[in-house]
Amino acid sequence: MIVAGCDIGSRTAKAVIMEEGTILAACVMRDKPDPEESAREVMARALEQAGKRMDQVERCVGTGYGRKQVPFAQAVESEIVCHGRGAQWLEPSIRMVIDIGGQDAKAIKLDEKGKVIRYAYNDKCAAGTGRFLEVMAKPLGVRLEDLGSVSQKSTAPVKVSNQCVIFAETEIVSMINAGKPVPDIVCGLHRAMAHRVAALAKGIVVEGEVGMTGGVAKNEGMFNALQDALGVKIRKIGWDPQMVGAIGAALIAREMAPAA
Ligand SMILES: Nc1ncnc2c1ncn2[C@@H]1O[C@H](COP(=O)(O)OP(=O)(O)O)[C@@H](O)[C@H]1O
Ligand SMILES: [Mg+2]
Repeated sequence: MIVAGCDIGSRTAKAVIMEEGTILAACVMRDKPDPEESAREVMARALEQAGKRMDQVERCVGTGYGRKQVPFAQAVESEIVCHGRGAQWLEPSIRMVIDIGGQDAKAIKLDEKGKVIRYAYNDKCAAGTGRFLEVMAKPLGVRLEDLGSVSQKSTAPVKVSNQCVIFAETEIVSMINAGKPVPDIVCGLHRAMAHRVAALAKGIVVEGEVGMTGGVAKNEGMFNALQDALGVKIRKIGWDPQMVGAIGAALIAREMAPAA
């Protein structure tokens, strides 16, 4: 049985095609202004990669911010459930998932079957989300994918006092003008953001193995800072943590499909 998961997030669109528990294709692309167009395009790319046609897909589950705008999905599921399901399938020992995406951050506690038992999320404030780093990367002249390697060169990380993105940006610009080294600023930003996300996770009690999902998990500097802020070892989930929600959606599609 061929199934699909389509995760239309606030920043990127992701699609996964699975056949009998094997991932045939996984694609990610930057969102288009129209979520429906994002869904169609990312799915077309995934189908091409898998060498399949849409009519061969038995069932598709949509998730993410734009889940209701996936025209070919027969069902929708929340990102919380999908990240939990995907993470548990990839790493069965995980009991807490921390997903940091473009516009939100979530801490999700799971039982041994991957069922969500508790969660906390922030989608009200950009601080503590990928957006915070996107805004700060601009005046620093650092590409998002280079934030991790740049922060590793830091010797004396700065302290960022402002939590609000707008004020923090002004603070960063002052630091740049004062000649503070860019790696120290980037490392300080990771620490400030990690502190916020760790507080979210600690609010629901950090227990058992912890894993990170979402695009921000690709940032090594942020991953290390979160590990330090939590005071426990964490793992990056899967070969591409950004795909975990779409993988979870595909797994749910498989479970929902009527037996042949
Ligand atoms: N290669 C990368 N290196 C560092 N950060 C990345 C990378 N790719 C994505 N990101 C971060 O991931 C965020 C998007 O994450 P994603 O999980 O796709 O979000 P959403 O599900 O909300 O669309 C971006 O804001 C950016 O900060
Ligand atoms: Mg997401």
